[in-house]
Formats: sequence, C-alpha cells, structure tokens
Amino acid sequence: MDITILSIFENRCWVNGQWITSEKTLDVTNPFDGSILTSVPILEESVILQAIQDAEIAQKKWKKVSANERSLLLRNWFNLIMQHQEELATIMTLEQGKPLKESRGEIAYAASYIEWFSEEAKRAYGDIIPSNIHSEILVFKEAIGVCAAITPWNFPAAMITRKVAPALAAGCSILVKPASETPLTALALAKLAEQAGFPTGIFNVITGSSMSIGKILTESPLVKKLSFTGSTEIGAKLMAQSSTTIKKLSLELGGNAPVIVFNSANLDQAVQGVMDTKFRNAGQTCVCANRIYVQNEIYNDFVEKLKLKVEALKMGNGLDAGTDIGPLINRKAILKVEEHIRDAMDKGGVLVTGQAKNVNAYCVPTVVKDVTQEMLCAKEETFGPFAPIFKFTTEDEAVQMSNDTEFGLASYVFTQDINQFIRVSRELEYGMVGINTGLISNAAAPFGGVKSSGIGREGSKYGMDEYLEIKYVCLGNIN
Ligand code: SIN
Repeated sequence: MDITILSIFENRCWVNGQWITSEKTLDVTNPFDGSILTSVPILEESVILQAIQDAEIAQKKWKKVSANERSLLLRNWFNLIMQHQEELATIMTLEQGKPLKESRGEIAYAASYIEWFSEEAKRAYGDIIPSNIHSEILVFKEAIGVCAAITPWNFPAAMITRKVAPALAAGCSILVKPASETPLTALALAKLAEQAGFPTGIFNVITGSSMSIGKILTESPLVKKLSFTGSTEIGAKLMAQSSTTIKKLSLELGGNAPVIVFNSANLDQAVQGVMDTKFRNAGQTCVCANRIYVQNEIYNDFVEKLKLKVEALKMGNGLDAGTDIGPLINRKAILKVEEHIRDAMDKGGVLVTGQAKNVNAYCVPTVVKDVTQEMLCAKEETFGPFAPIFKFTTEDEAVQMSNDTEFGLASYVFTQDINQFIRVSRELEYGMVGINTGLISNAAAPFGGVKSSGIGREGSKYGMDEYLEIKYVCLGNIN
C-alpha cells in the first residue's frame, strides 16, 4: 500500500509551527516486507538547538493561557485523532507491523490520554497549609518549562500522548523524538495537533539520530524535564547525561513481568489473561508476561488450555483482517526470542508448541514448559511471542521467584482467594499488579515501575505532577 496517499501522511518535522526538511534523511521501512515507506529528516544540531530556544519562548506564553483554553485545545486534538483513527492505525501498522485491530486500539488508547489530561488541565490544584507561626503557607503548582520526550517503537502513538498531553495540560512546551523505526505516526499526530490550533512552538516533533538528539536534549540547560520510555540501558545513559543540568526525569524502562496462576484461579480467565498480556503486540510490550508461574495442581490443565489458544493465533501482515500476530520489529528482535527459546530447551525446558527457528519476519508463538529460574528467559526481557511456563508449589516460592529480578514494572496474579490477592499484591516488588486480568493499561491509572524499571508515573493525576513544580509562597505577618 502507498502510504503517501493517506491525508495525514507527513514525512517532514514539525518545529516551531513549520514543517521542515533536511538534506540528510533516514529511511522508514515496513517490518512486514522490509520495503521502504518513505524517509524522514536527520535534523542538524543547530536546528534542534534553535527549536529548544523557540520552545522556551513559546512556553512562556503558553503557561499564561488559561487552563480552560489549554483544555479545549487538547479536546480538539482528541476529537481529530478519533476522527482519523483509521488512517492513523494504517500508518502505524505500516511502520510498526502490529495488526490493524491493535493499531486501532492503540489510537483510541493514545487519544484517551489526551482526553484525560484535557480534563486534568483544569485541576492542577495547589494548597493552603495551616501554619504554626503567624503566616500563611501557599503552595502553587507551576509548569516546569520546556520538556523533552524520547519515545519507543512498540507503541508509536500512546507513548507520545501520555507524555505530551500532561505536558501541554500543565503549561509546558515539549519536543518529541520518536523512535527512528516509527516516526510517521508521531508526525501524523503533529499534523492533527496543527489542525487542533495549538500555538506555535509548544509541540514539536524532531527526527534524526537517536544518540545525538538524546545528547542535545539532555545537555541543554533550557530543557527542564526529560521523559523517556525504552530500555534500562539507554535510560541509565540518559539519566547520566541529564545529571549536569539537574533535569527532572520520568523513566519507563524494561520489565520482566511475572504472572502467578494459583490453584484457586479461574482457569479460563487465567489462560485468557496470559494470552492478553503475553501476545499483545506480538509480545513487544514492557508489561508483557515474561515468566508464567503456575501452581502444581493446575499446571497440566493450564498448559493444555494455553497450547490450544496459542495454536489458534494467526500470523500475517498486520493489514490483513484476522491477523493476530504481526512481524517483529526487526531481525535482531527475532534472534533474541529464538535465543531465549533455544536456551530454555537446552537447559531442560519442554517444547509445548511453536519453534525456535523462524524463516521470515515473524516469530512463531511458542510455549515451553518446565522452565526454571536459571534460564535466560527468567532473567531478561524476551520482547516477543514466547511464553515460558514455570511450576511452583507454595505461595512464598511464587512470590520469591517473581521478585528475583532487577526489574519491577508490571506483574499479574490469578486467584479467587481474596486474602491471597491482598497478601501477594503487597509482597510483589512491582509498580503495577493486575489481579485476574492481563490488561492493566488505562489513562486514569498511574503507569510506572520500581527498581531498574524506572522512575515516575504516567497517566492519572500523578502523571500530571511529573510536569509541574511546587512553589511554596510564605505570606508573612498576617495577624
Ligand atoms: C509499554 O509497553 O511500555 C506500554 C504498554 C502500555 O501502555 O500498555
């Protein structure tokens, strides 16, 4: 399909209210067949530095725009995105590979952050605190200033809107560097933001070399906040680079999500929950089930039921109706999944369905049982459609194995025992716990992790705080 016929297709950068090009460009490919869709600019350093300066000038005006007006502009953007859901989804599938039905879902999910924060724009309440001396303590919440966002390829729309919407709602300006694999969804979103009527310079999309843009954004003293979603390795690097300018940071980094299925679980619900969390986006999400711990009494039944569901998954071009699993983003991603499957089988895991060797852009959805903590897939994020099943006997053992990782993003528990779910939720060292569900993402909920999975929360009222500074004003001698 020719992507350029879509009315919101754009391959120029959106900077200070202008669509700009550059001499050097970067190809964007379709992961399904490796064909080149288009190319986007590799912006020069001087252009990005100028964009940051312009964003600072724009922010000084934007923070004075009434909360109501900011809210209305966000609402316009939300409406336009939903009106163009189909085109946005098509662009996303072409550059990212996920099935069209998932792309449509992601566009709605992405838009829901804009809707949520259009409402939160009006609710950035401060405080008046009783004082112990003759003064009045006032707390103002103020926009932090120019922000930067560096976003990943697995969710080309939602990871942008959940950073941009609270930033704009709070009165900040923002520069977004989308993943090099998926800049077209970001540019299409910018096209709709232009139509929504936001003032010049408060929302910018810049493309080019990730390393050099990351360095420019983190080292700029004008950029007051960086929000990054991606690997722990790159997050740590950006954090180090940000240290000289003492930036506020939000980091949503790697995960290694455990799913614990207890004997008391509703088995069908647990199997469906694992399907939802494991195979969404072909397993390429930070909150994907990475380790599936199943209690001994239901172990065999669980494995059998999961096998049937996994074998029913249809692989194919994301644009084809009925496709459940699209291509992985690139060859490197496929090789990693294959390595995890092979390692598990070499160390005693038993293949239930699937295979370790793939011949095209897909990874065959694979289940291996009798997996143990010593295997690679227990330690590293697989980021693909491989479901390793571990057997456990006691609750303590399941919790201990689940926490045995440097990561702490999402975790899942399936149980019908109310005391158990409260006990285990408290014991799990994770930022998020799904109980009897594999789908936890929601604009109204605080998304984020602990340990090496990151800092800060996105979505919800807490997501707004990430773009606000607290100012304490002391009103003295009031009596
Ligand atoms: C992620 O994989 O980082 C995001 C997943 C989500 O928001 O559901």
